[in-house]
Amino acid sequence: MNPKYRKTVIAGNWKMNLLPSQLKDYADALKGLLGKEHPCEVALCVPALMAVPLLRHLRGSRVSLGAQDVSAEASGAFTGEISAAQLKDAGVKYVIVGHSERRALHGETDELIGRKLRRVLEAGMTPILCVGETLPQREAGAEKEIVRAQLKLALGDRDAAAMRNVPIAYEPGWAIGTGRTASPAQAQDMCREIRGAIREKYDARTARAVTVQYGGSMNPANAAELLAQPDVDGGLIGGASLDPGKFYQIVETAKL
Ligand code: PGA
Repeated sequence: MNPKYRKTVIAGNWKMNLLPSQLKDYADALKGLLGKEHPCEVALCVPALMAVPLLRHLRGSRVSLGAQDVSAEASGAFTGEISAAQLKDAGVKYVIVGHSERRALHGETDELIGRKLRRVLEAGMTPILCVGETLPQREAGAEKEIVRAQLKLALGDRDAAAMRNVPIAYEPGWAIGTGRTASPAQAQDMCREIRGAIREKYDARTARAVTVQYGGSMNPANAAELLAQPDVDGGLIGGASLDPGKFYQIVETAKL
């Protein structure tokens, strides 16, 4: 982390978990633990259906609301899709784009992810751009090449001003939901690589300002070591974010 130059962002990704009837208890517990001040930006990326009621339950806290996906189209006949304008109007601040589960299970391409990213920025929200290699790609030693290509294609011709508002989440596919976390050294190595790619594409100032998160089995036991790395500016947390107590403990580690 380097809060002098960039925001630390701890974001939960609930995926397709929890129920609308559980939102109040979750929000009350988290608010009670966090209080009014926390050491970093905190967000919860929830199923879109739960965004509006969760926002209501989170009133009085500084927790931001996030979504897990968005349509690449602006509006119209796209049954089942949700637009960036709809998310923005509902009070959503962050939108995850390019999560590895969307890439692997829903066939999302870098080109599509780039279009989604642009929609989110145009709507005045903050995309969290997920990048990361699969296990075979890492075993082949191709992880940096893969992540650089994902960044290049998704960022397209976004300019430096827009880029400063794009947190990037490095999520190695082999660490997601597996209980197998990247080591702090592996996380730092790739997060530094990502910042290097931003420096090459833009400039040193932009690279220094961009938040680079790590995601993949982050939990209260390993968060402090991961967040202590100079280029790891936060986390995208799946499983451990389903429990407000565990999520709070991870937020607390961002104090160090
Ligand atoms: P996990 O998920 O923390 O359950 O590994 C992280 C993610 O997919 O964002």
